[in-house]
Amino acid sequence: MVVSAAAPLLLPGGVSLRGTVRVPGDKSISHRALLFGAIAEGETRIEGLLPAEDPLSTAACLRAMGVEVSEIRAGEPVTVRGVGLDGLREPDNILDCGNSGTTMRLLLGLLAGRAGRHFVLTGDASLRRRPMRRVGGPLGDMGAAIHGRDGGNLAPLAIAGQTLHGATIRTPVASAQVKSALLLAALTASGPTTVIEPALSRDHSERMLRAFGADLEVSGAGGTTVTVTPGASLRGQAVVVPGDISSAAFWLVAGAITPGADLTIENVGLNPSRTGILEVLHQMGAAVEVRQPREVAGEPVGDLHVSHGPLNAFSIDGDLIPRLVDEIPVLAVAACRAEGVSRIRGAEELRVKETDRLAVMARQLGAMGARLEEHADGLTIQGDTPLQGAEVDSETDHRVAMSLAVASLVARGDTRLRDSAAAAVSYPGFWDDLARLRS
Ligand code: S3P
Repeated sequence: MVVSAAAPLLLPGGVSLRGTVRVPGDKSISHRALLFGAIAEGETRIEGLLPAEDPLSTAACLRAMGVEVSEIRAGEPVTVRGVGLDGLREPDNILDCGNSGTTMRLLLGLLAGRAGRHFVLTGDASLRRRPMRRVGGPLGDMGAAIHGRDGGNLAPLAIAGQTLHGATIRTPVASAQVKSALLLAALTASGPTTVIEPALSRDHSERMLRAFGADLEVSGAGGTTVTVTPGASLRGQAVVVPGDISSAAFWLVAGAITPGADLTIENVGLNPSRTGILEVLHQMGAAVEVRQPREVAGEPVGDLHVSHGPLNAFSIDGDLIPRLVDEIPVLAVAACRAEGVSRIRGAEELRVKETDRLAVMARQLGAMGARLEEHADGLTIQGDTPLQGAEVDSETDHRVAMSLAVASLVARGDTRLRDSAAAAVSYPGFWDDLARLRS
């Protein structure tokens, strides 16, 4: 399918999906494999790396600091020649993180401790609106010097590399990006650092840093306290990236809500800090099954099967939110087709994602006839609502684009989606997979 940036994409309503799909590599794990490989000694070989815009931004920033990263092509392994913990070169230009919050936040942590070197990070219009003080503030407690617009909150951000000291830091939000930035900074601090989260966020950094040889301990209720003791050097590893459950989520919801649907999604990462979506679908009574659960390179993996059936409304809140934070836009679509009123609360973090996802989903799904009420921290969604094809817009957000595509399947009439190309940030083959599954 040819996707033009200018013309809206035509999505016919009332179509069903059948078949098997393999979603691309996990975005969070892909960023980490590149970043940790860069500061390890020796070579890191990555299989299944996500060949999408966000990881390409991370790779480009690393290359600008002297790291050799092989070309990133779908289906081919990527090699990273590590420069060691302190080997990153001062770049001769600003580093462009594109649309990627993970790139910017993890680089802030990684670069803050490169004493004597100067770095400037920027990004696209969306990223330059996103709050960075949540990383720069706690890094400041370790001695970091980061300056930017709005008192250091907004990119472009300048980092004057310092020798950092260890600290005990309680993060105000459960965010894996904040946690990971601090763990990266801790690797070269002068003493141990402990990070305590209010709830568990995805723990890929902890798992992978340990596999690379970092001295890292996890404790506290549910693994919310992480201590890094500096001194250990990292060694290059073979990393196998599983499929991204956040990309699988679009097919899971499409399969659950579309009459006649029957889908198998192969090789999906099932790390418990990411599987909140499966718990909600279970709560809804969806026919979702995990097949062939297995472990691949330290991460649980399985195939998922989903078919259409009646669905109940859901309520989500609290510690579950960080475990499905990226899946809330597509869960809002599922809620429209469930029986009863669904409630999403405690999800104020969605307002500072690539877009304000609560406002954007309320606006765009509303245009399709959804009945939803927006709250400061969530949405209330009336179920059993017929959706109508409409002119909608991703508003540049990849997950909004794909969520609206799922909504279009159950809509009456055609939907026209503006800026469908945004999907390439995390799932470049999404429109081709959609075309294949509906034929
Ligand atoms: C990510 C963490 C999440 C998530 C983002 C990727 C990561 O953000 O929304 O898509 O790779 O660490 P927060 O940690 O800020 O919630």
